[in-house]
Parts: sequence; structure tokens; C-alpha cells
Amino acid sequence: MFAVYANTFDADAPLNGLVVGDRPDPEVPDGWTTVRVRAASLNHHDIWSLRGVGLRAESLPMILGCDAAGLDEDGNEVLVHAVVSDPGWAGDETLDPRRSLLSERYPGTFADKVAVPTRNVVPKPAGLSFEEAACLPTAWLTAYRMLFTQSGLRPGDSVLVQGAGGGVATALIMLARAAGIRVYATSRDEAKRARAEEIGAHQALEHGARLPQRVDAVMETVGAATWSHSVKALRPGGTMVICGATSGTTPSQGELNRVFFLQLRIHGSTMGTRTELGQLAQFLDVTGVRPAIDRTLPMEQAADGFRAMVDGDVFGKVVLTR
Ligand SMILES: NC(=O)c1ccc[n+]([C@@H]2O[C@H](COP(=O)([O-])OP(=O)(O)OC[C@H]3O[C@@H](n4cnc5c(N)ncnc54)[C@H](OP(=O)(O)O)[C@@H]3O)[C@@H](O)[C@H]2O)c1
Repeated sequence: MFAVYANTFDADAPLNGLVVGDRPDPEVPDGWTTVRVRAASLNHHDIWSLRGVGLRAESLPMILGCDAAGLDEDGNEVLVHAVVSDPGWAGDETLDPRRSLLSERYPGTFADKVAVPTRNVVPKPAGLSFEEAACLPTAWLTAYRMLFTQSGLRPGDSVLVQGAGGGVATALIMLARAAGIRVYATSRDEAKRARAEEIGAHQALEHGARLPQRVDAVMETVGAATWSHSVKALRPGGTMVICGATSGTTPSQGELNRVFFLQLRIHGSTMGTRTELGQLAQFLDVTGVRPAIDRTLPMEQAADGFRAMVDGDVFGKVVLTR
């Protein structure tokens, strides 16, 4: 079948290991099913995989992609929950120490079809297109859990979203605004700051800029480049939720004194549960909020989307269609 996959790792030039070609159909163990992929979306996870982060060499070649929307074996419109937990695991799938994401241990979604445990198939609301639904399982689900499960934010509170252009960041801005939260965002790029305000940020600023107020929570995906600013932006007792570190994991200033003196909370967050994915789909159905899509490309042109993401030249999600 057609597939987009990682053949080798290259930490500095990740696109060197990317192949658009053919792979065997996925194996379908007992209790699993297949989904015919109509749309998938790119995540920074796919770039990390090509750099050799989170994927083992013995797993190569590996079909990339965590997110998909498509048709199940009965022709129903579905989306796929990307967190594969152990068959014996019950409860929050993100806390299973043996969990993996599609494209880590099992082939991913950038292909004609993907095999997943039957319980990972979630109905797609009819009001969402396949392209929109394909944005939900990783970036939007991660944002939903950060905001509504981990942060403690309530309607009327305030939040800072760092690195406004990212897939997770655009989701955070749109979800927070729809939930009645005052949203500040930062971006390195003036045009992206303007876009951030168009999609719902009350004010978008340069990285490191002084905010009009200290915020109740900060959403971190950028890491080293924005960490110090994030800590300084919080009110006493405020909460930082962090799900990623695109710019690196070693900030020059740890700001530890502020963390304890101001009694800040730092909360790690990863993906979300199958239940949260269903709630997110309903949230979009009810509010009319739709993912910000930077571009939609046929899957054959996946390399162009990967290149844009490596260059930081995206605002929102890159969607690949089949
Ligand atoms: N834990 C999880 O479950 C989980 C789930 C999803 C994503 N993540 C992680 O979260 C991060 C974001 O993911 P994504 O898919 O949204 O990635 P993305 O679309 O590539 O977004 C990253 C954003 O970070 C900002 N940025 C990148 N490099 C920067 C630098 N050197 N200095 C300042 N800002 C920089 C950029 O914003 P501007 O250009 O606007 O400044 C960029 O748009 C990734 O590290 C990803 O691995 C984790």
C-alpha cells in the first residue's frame, strides 16, 4: 500500500530519512481493526521520529503519522485515538507505562490504511470534515487536556500561550477563547502574531514581552527559548502546563527561586484519553470552533509539509489527504 515512512534517522537533516513510497499492509491482531485513511495531519512528533527521538533504529522502516480520520470496516466516519495502551490496562491510557503512540511501535497513519485496537476508534461528528477531524487526535487533544484537565483554568481566568504558530498552540488559543478565558499569545513572527489575534487571542506579543497582567496559567510547548518568560508571567500560585520543548530542554535560566517563592505549579501533560478525544469532538460540534489549517496537501506531497514544519513556516496544522 501507499505509505510515507522513516527509513533512516538524521538528527540534523530529518528530511533525509523520509520516503514516499510503498509498505506492506499492516498486521491486524485479534481485537484490532483497520481504518481507511481519508486525511491525516502532521505533528512535530513526526519530525522528532525522523531525527531519531522516541523511535528505535530496529523499528525502521516505520510509517509515520499519529492522526487520522477515515472510514472504519463498516464504512462509518471515524477518527483514531493515537495512544495505544496495553490490552490489560484500564483507566487513563496516557498513564500506562507501556503505552505507545501510533508510529512508535505500530505503523502510523500516513498510508492507505492503519491498524488500531478496536477501542481506539471514535465516531467523527458529521459537522467536521475529514481534514478538520484529522487535526484532533494529537495536537488538539493535547491542547484540550492541557487546558481543561491539567491547568485548573476557569471561565474568566487568563492564559499565556507561547509560540502561537504551532499546531498545539493554535488549538490552545481557539479552545481557551471559546471557553471564556482571556488569551495572551507570543510568536517570533509579526504575521503569526496578527493571525493569532484573528483566531482568538486577545493580544499577541513578541517572545519575552511584558504582559498587561500576570496570568493564571501558561501553556508551554516551546521549551528552553520561552521557559524563563513563562515562569515570570505567572501570578503567585499560578500553573504552567508543559507538553513539549521544540526549542530544547535546557533553559538558560531555570527560575527556581520564583517557582518556590511564588508557589508555582508545573504540570507535565501528554496527549489525552479516548474519553477526552470524544469530549473534544463534541466541544467543536457544540461551539463551531474548527482547527486552523495552514495547508492541505495530497499525501504524495508530504515532503513539502514536513519541510514547512522543520522551517517553522506554518500557522496551524498541515493536513495530508488520501
Ligand atoms: N506531550 C505530548 O503529548 C505532545 C503532543 C503534541 C505536541 N507535543 C510537542 O509540543 C511541541 C509543539 O508541537 P506542534 O506539533 O504544535 O509543533 P509545531 O507546530 O512545530 O510548533 C512549534 C512552535 O513553537 C515555536 N518555536 C519553535 N522553535 C522555536 C524557537 N527556537 N524559539 C521560539 N519559538 C519556537 C514556533 O512558534 P512561533 O513560530 O509562532 O514563534 C512554532 O510554531 C513539540 O515539541 C511537540 O513534540 C507534545
